[in-house]
Amino acid sequence: MCGIVGYIGRKSAQNIILSGLNKLEYRGYDSAGIAVKCGEEIIERKFKGRLSVLEGFLCDNPVHGNIGIGHTRWATHGAPSDENAHPHSSTDYSISVVHNGIIENYVQIKEELTSLGYVFRSQTDTEVAAHLIHHYYEGDLLDAFIKAVGKLKGAYALVAISEKEEKIVCVRKDSPLIIGLGENESFVASDIPAVLEYTRDVYLMDDNVFAELTHDGVSLCDENKHPVQNEVYHVTWDAQDATKGGYEHFMLKEIFEQPTSVRNTLRGRLDKIGDKVTLDDFRLTKEDFNKISKVYIVACGTAYYAGCIGKYLIEKYARKTVETDVASEFRYKDPIIDENTLFIAISQSGETADTLAGLRYAKKMGAKVLSITNVVGSSVARESENVLYTWAGPEIAVASTKAFSTQIIAMYLLAIKFGLYSGNLSEEKADELIDSIYMLDKNIETVLGKIGEIEGIAHMFESIKDAFFIGRGVDHYLSMEGSLKMKEISYIHAEAYQAGELKHGPIALLEEGSVVVCTLTYGGELCDKVMSNLKEVKARGAKVVLIAEEGNEDNDGVSDVIISLPKAHEDMNILPAAVVLQLLAYYSAVNRGCDVDKPRNLAKSVTVE
Ligand code: F6R
Repeated sequence: MCGIVGYIGRKSAQNIILSGLNKLEYRGYDSAGIAVKCGEEIIERKFKGRLSVLEGFLCDNPVHGNIGIGHTRWATHGAPSDENAHPHSSTDYSISVVHNGIIENYVQIKEELTSLGYVFRSQTDTEVAAHLIHHYYEGDLLDAFIKAVGKLKGAYALVAISEKEEKIVCVRKDSPLIIGLGENESFVASDIPAVLEYTRDVYLMDDNVFAELTHDGVSLCDENKHPVQNEVYHVTWDAQDATKGGYEHFMLKEIFEQPTSVRNTLRGRLDKIGDKVTLDDFRLTKEDFNKISKVYIVACGTAYYAGCIGKYLIEKYARKTVETDVASEFRYKDPIIDENTLFIAISQSGETADTLAGLRYAKKMGAKVLSITNVVGSSVARESENVLYTWAGPEIAVASTKAFSTQIIAMYLLAIKFGLYSGNLSEEKADELIDSIYMLDKNIETVLGKIGEIEGIAHMFESIKDAFFIGRGVDHYLSMEGSLKMKEISYIHAEAYQAGELKHGPIALLEEGSVVVCTLTYGGELCDKVMSNLKEVKARGAKVVLIAEEGNEDNDGVSDVIISLPKAHEDMNILPAAVVLQLLAYYSAVNRGCDVDKPRNLAKSVTVE
């Protein structure tokens, strides 16, 4: 998704913007650009492709100035090209803007501006904003900006500069934007990592609040220019948390951060004494919960699979019906939802457009809303009456790993809380679960210790076209996540099936040399059934990779390789198994020479429908 960085201060705007855009590269983009106020004029430079193209050009042709804005674009309106890259400027280059989001009524505004004689250079929706500000400009950039924004419909983080004024102005609506507060310098950006090298004090901007950044500091106001207060949020995580820290890829670093992330998510929340599960920003009482007839969990991609695992855990321990849906479907199918529904949105970024829209829909229908998110002050969090932050720290790799495991932790917390609320989970059983949840970080570390073994096994995926992921019960949800991880970063076509469903069709796809990954996190009767399913697979000549808990491993020779999981309490091998699947996908992608952290066609945060 697009990245925005703006700077005003005493240093070289070009250098600070480029360094900030580098930190935002994880958001995914197809072009990059910069506009810097150089004396009495604005110089704009922008190119299709990687940020390095822009950097290379600016290295030979620097733009000098200490006020500027920059952007990495992920195309929505108009293909990736130099012309469509941001910034966009008024015809005379006196006004320049960068924008993230979508201006829904841009066609109508474009027609109006064209009839006034404005000439457009790009196919983007954004360009209308530059001309509109120019149209309203009468010597005060903020005035013109407020008037122009008043005409826009849609979602936007919009930032503008003028050749005539020493300032930056900006606003957000349904698209992330923060302001960094430095000493004698200020920053604006789509995300905190872009400014963390320079300041830890930021404003998390609210929708429809306008900011004016000058050499004297930052002031905030509403559309009538009445002052608005905003608390300064002090960032406590390290800048290093947002960089690779010695690992080859962000994804590997984030896989290895999981024991810490899990500990952070649990911090202060789980105790055998008292209420057992303590959640701040959580107002749902036992009485509220017991009035609820149904829980609805809605999310996208990996977060959706975390929701499916949540369904399994909540239904098992709280005996409450849980429905799940992908957010892009949910609101269009007239879901049965009312004031007796608890709606849970799961989103790492808290900015995923479909999830946010689902949440708004559920609120409109009267549901109680709880969001599970990793980003403080994100849109999903702001719009929810109950919030459970996952505290995974910034996740930079496009493929979600540590966010997923902390979302699963959130699901355990809710399953115990709701189980106790509903009376279906005894205190003793809850204590047992708490003890075993506290073992999870160690069990994940044990699995991470198998990195060499898993790296070797990943060679089985080096030259295959298709992979199959199977499991039963909760393991099927894990298989779906394993299959998504494999396809999105290694580009191997991967499918997930319930192990028992194979013989109803998909088994026809198996042939000599096909690879089937089977997850088996439990023992008992179902374990024997999975083994029978594996025999069917083996008989078709497929190679079997079995991920199973110690003691439940294959003893009939049906697996080609076995990755064993530590012996754990019931339901506690979900996370260690997920880590194995992440590492398998990671090394398969590395072996195939893929761009692991920035897989093709994908963006980290999908803020458009
Ligand atoms: C896959 C992945 C995506 C996200 C999905 C939702 O590895 O990262 O499937 O899980 O786009 O994103 P959030 O959680 O930010 O709403």
